[in-house]
Amino acid sequence: MTLRAVIAGVGSALPERRVDNAELAAQVDTSDEWIVERTGIRTRYIAGPGETTGTLAADAARRALDHAGIDAGDIDLIVLATATPDQTFPATATKVQTMLGIVDCISFDVAAVCSGFLYALSVADSMIRGGGAKTALVIGAETFSRILDWEDRTTCVLFGDGAGAVVLQAAENGQSGILATRLHADGRHQDLLYVDGGPSTTGTVGKLRMKGREVFRHAVVNLAAVLNEVLDAAGVTADEVDWIVPHQANARILDATAKKLGLSPGKIVVTVDRHANTSAASVPLALDVAIKDGRIKRGDLVVLEAMGGGFTWGAAALRY
Ligand code: UT7
Repeated sequence: MTLRAVIAGVGSALPERRVDNAELAAQVDTSDEWIVERTGIRTRYIAGPGETTGTLAADAARRALDHAGIDAGDIDLIVLATATPDQTFPATATKVQTMLGIVDCISFDVAAVCSGFLYALSVADSMIRGGGAKTALVIGAETFSRILDWEDRTTCVLFGDGAGAVVLQAAENGQSGILATRLHADGRHQDLLYVDGGPSTTGTVGKLRMKGREVFRHAVVNLAAVLNEVLDAAGVTADEVDWIVPHQANARILDATAKKLGLSPGKIVVTVDRHANTSAASVPLALDVAIKDGRIKRGDLVVLEAMGGGFTWGAAALRY
């Protein structure tokens, strides 16, 4: 018997307020031209006073449950990836659980920054295959706007807020589901991408700091390596892949990674132009877009990948 975690539904949520590059150029020394040329970003969404990581996550989760046609009461596991929780504790996952009216289930957050969704998906997949859960919500949700230094043009133009969610369901002996996941971390590069605060150091939330050029270099190398690894683990070749849904940090990283693997740019789902980098939310947000607009169809071979602070990086191969 092969037990697999199948994606039963997807959903996403964005804040109401959309901010274009021109609006940022009125606040810091930047331009639409620089942002588009260096990153591919045109707009991002920024959370308003009533919007939090938890509310965005709950909205995305409700839409994923609707899409799957599954009742919230059937969820026995919630894994929420975020670097911007509503509070230091309790876990934002437990807040989402309550917002969905779920009285009892396993519920926790995962902190792996931009690759958080891949980590969360891999944990949920292991728990489902191990028999510890049957129906899981895996969520990536962030409000990075709240940890940005809005006077630092090298970072504040790059990020946005949002949430994406998938419902995973245990299925026996089917063709579809998660085929393989691969995760990595290397803590030696913490000074290249970090937040300069925290509960046990400064007692403050802190602001995001990044040496973008160095992160870029590591991202292309690590992503190409983990993509090859996950294809091997799944027993498939790059030619067989229908869609790559990458972390949306920079259009140039997507192009460079595709080139390294010899993948056609037409197979890559790109949403960085409209969402910017939403950290753990970026992969499930892009997945939702490409499933809902009909590009990704049942039976397609889909590969997800991400790299971020830590460094952490990972990939998943699945048959949708
Ligand atoms: O999600 C986690 C993973 N994160 C990433 O993967 C991010 C990876 N890195 C990147 O995406 C790119 O490195 C950036 C988009 C962050 C930067 O692009 P770059 O081509 O590496 O630019 P740079 O940092 O080398 O900066 C080039 C120039 C600098 O000016 P000088 O020193 O050459 O005079 C910067 O000061 O661009 C300047 N610059 C800006 N100019 C206008 C930096 N930010 C801006 C800005 N507007 N917003």
